[in-house]
Amino acid sequence: MTNTSTLSEAIRPATIAEQARRRRTFAVISHPDAGKSTLTEALALYASAIQDAGVTHGKSSRHGTVSDWMGMERERGISISSAALQLEYRDTVLNLVDTPGHADFSEDTYRVLAAVDCAVMLIDAAKGFEPQTVKLLEVCKQRGLPIVTVVNKWDRPGLDALGLIDQIGERTDMVPVPLTWPAGIAGEFEGLLDVRTASSIALEAVEGGAQPARETTIDPADLDPHAAQVWDVASEELGLVASSNGDFDAEAFAAAQQTPVLFAAAARNFGVRQLVDLLVDLGSAPTPRVTADGAHRPLEGGFSGFVFKVQAGANTAHRDHIAYLRICSGVFERGMVITNSRTGRPFATKYAHRVLGREREAVEQAWPGDVVGLVNATSLRVGDSLYQDEPVTFPEIPHFSPELFVTVRAKDPGRYKQFRRGIEQLDHEGVIQVLRSELRGDQAPVLAAVGQLQFEVAEQRMRTEFNAPVALEQLSYTLARRIPAAPSSLPDSFRGGEILRRSDGECIAIFGDRWKLGHFADAFPDVTLELIGA
Ligand code: G4P
Repeated sequence: MTNTSTLSEAIRPATIAEQARRRRTFAVISHPDAGKSTLTEALALYASAIQDAGVTHGKSSRHGTVSDWMGMERERGISISSAALQLEYRDTVLNLVDTPGHADFSEDTYRVLAAVDCAVMLIDAAKGFEPQTVKLLEVCKQRGLPIVTVVNKWDRPGLDALGLIDQIGERTDMVPVPLTWPAGIAGEFEGLLDVRTASSIALEAVEGGAQPARETTIDPADLDPHAAQVWDVASEELGLVASSNGDFDAEAFAAAQQTPVLFAAAARNFGVRQLVDLLVDLGSAPTPRVTADGAHRPLEGGFSGFVFKVQAGANTAHRDHIAYLRICSGVFERGMVITNSRTGRPFATKYAHRVLGREREAVEQAWPGDVVGLVNATSLRVGDSLYQDEPVTFPEIPHFSPELFVTVRAKDPGRYKQFRRGIEQLDHEGVIQVLRSELRGDQAPVLAAVGQLQFEVAEQRMRTEFNAPVALEQLSYTLARRIPAAPSSLPDSFRGGEILRRSDGECIAIFGDRWKLGHFADAFPDVTLELIGA
């Protein structure tokens, strides 16, 4: 076994602080089709992937290269697993934590936002704000994450740049401050005014696509009057925004009061270098994380981290469980024995990996901001805090408000024991939220989720892993609220809703729609209804 204590002792606090300073851990939030995968590929072109397994090119080729752990994933060409892609650029390590989107939108999509220090909000130039972006933005705002806004697909006809800036300001409640401005309307993307370098950059795609865009610094005064006009208009527009929204302010960005805005066409690699430079120069490095008792864990302290995602059922033959850990302080060294603060039990980290898609690569050392996948981590749950020598507990990752509800029952009543065990396990892992009431009984609890895929994963795992096939029945509820200090006199059901208990003891009311919620509030004026996850 590795002699970890000797290794750790050799690493000075200054080294840990320096490694943390070099890290940018971020996620891209967007609505399906806005170009997240294309942008990820483009980023990997500028910044070299430290481990690039699973990075694919084009939607069609993506099929089959994603994790093949679950048949369901393979059939659909989607990746249920979220992991981190690690890139290196100008001496900085970029950890891009994947937010599962598309059809696989689930509570995991929200949870990974607990593991990042910054978010890139990608919007389609033609569509502006779309529902999934708005939901993810809300979670980022609740977490106080700094947000960089990227307007993508500027090479295609779309909305007007000034109009988009107004929309960003209204929808995000942050002041948008463009750090690049497009020369040419959407669909006629000629180049960028780069605010940070005060330069005009003409852009050209390099044939083949898998090449960085060609950038030429120009002086618009040298162009013929017709060509120069495009750049003059861009300057005027940028000047207008600057005079009303002011200059970029690093503190306001860090406090999520300002959002720097960039214009891009990820498919042509336009504007992508500016994004990587911005993340490196202005993005947030890991800072001391707040602990459950309100203190801050110093970055240079002993190793600590928390689990933000558990993936299981990956390989039914091997009962494969991977817990994804975000490192908060100290250095992680493979082989070290760490303690789970919830159980007080030790956990050996012999099988620590970077995981992306189906590829795994052993991690020998990792630093604050990095993400590590711990294989065979059956005892670890989402939200668990882990440490080596100095105990710490980080705040729990909040539950998110479910919008979909089903009842679940064992198809074969003879397999009730397996049914119970399976449902409990899925609940612990955070695959779905399990809600119970006397009315529903233990045989048919309610499962709650933010995305349909969570039910499909639960259904499949109950069948293949727990050997207890289940029948799910959709309920027509769409809203949930927490009832703190619920009086015992509340009924289990009322017109258009029900009251149930989550496994952590929270009392949850679910409603058909907001009118039903309104009726309930009128009927029980003394009962407080709180948003979940707020
Ligand atoms: P997602 O991960 O956010 O869902 O989006 P994805 O990158 O898959 O992009 C969705 C579609 O938008 C893709 O087209 C992609 O090529 C296109 N796209 C992404 N960025 C840009 C851009 O900057 N400009 C233009 N014009 N298109 C862009 P597709 O037809 O669905 O797939 P494919 O056949 O191109 O692979």
